[in-house]
Amino acid sequence: MTETTATSIWLFGYGSLIYKVDFPFLERRRARIHGWVRRFWQGSHDHRGTPEAPGRVVTLIADPDAVCTGMAYRVTPDVFAHLDHREKNGYTREASEFFFDDGSHTQGVVYVANPGNEAYLGPAGDDEIARHIARARGPSGENRDYLLALAAALRELGSDDAHVFGIERELHGMLQAAT
Ligand code: BEZ
Repeated sequence: MTETTATSIWLFGYGSLIYKVDFPFLERRRARIHGWVRRFWQGSHDHRGTPEAPGRVVTLIADPDAVCTGMAYRVTPDVFAHLDHREKNGYTREASEFFFDDGSHTQGVVYVANPGNEAYLGPAGDDEIARHIARARGPSGENRDYLLALAAALRELGSDDAHVFGIERELHGMLQAAT
């Protein structure tokens, strides 16, 4: 009998996994995945909101023309026990191809909350999403801090994400108007 056991697996982070790295990794590299776009369309009942007042966090939406930039981590399989628990609110693991800046590519996995999961909220305008994020909070803190940390991390990665930056701009406008 032959038995193969993966000693390491590549994981693609496009949301909080870019800036909240509370797991060990063997290697970390900026990467892109094709056919997916990052969107603040997933509800958060357990981190940035509550069951009564969910927050909004990112998921990936299938789009054949899209490319999503994020951070890839090479991890040992045991890391998924921690992350499956951390990201249990509607996300499942999907296989994907990752492309690195040096032209190489590899297979890995990415967490996706597909439309139809219980916590899915779907599309809305940047202003509506920003208003929603401005008032939401949950056990992991203010929803706005998630948005601001993600926007800062994407800027650091050199990812020009019009969706995230548009919502961030709306949020800044609201916070300024409130002072
Ligand atoms: C991520 O940062 O890749 C991620 C986003 C949502 C759920 C799980 C992971």
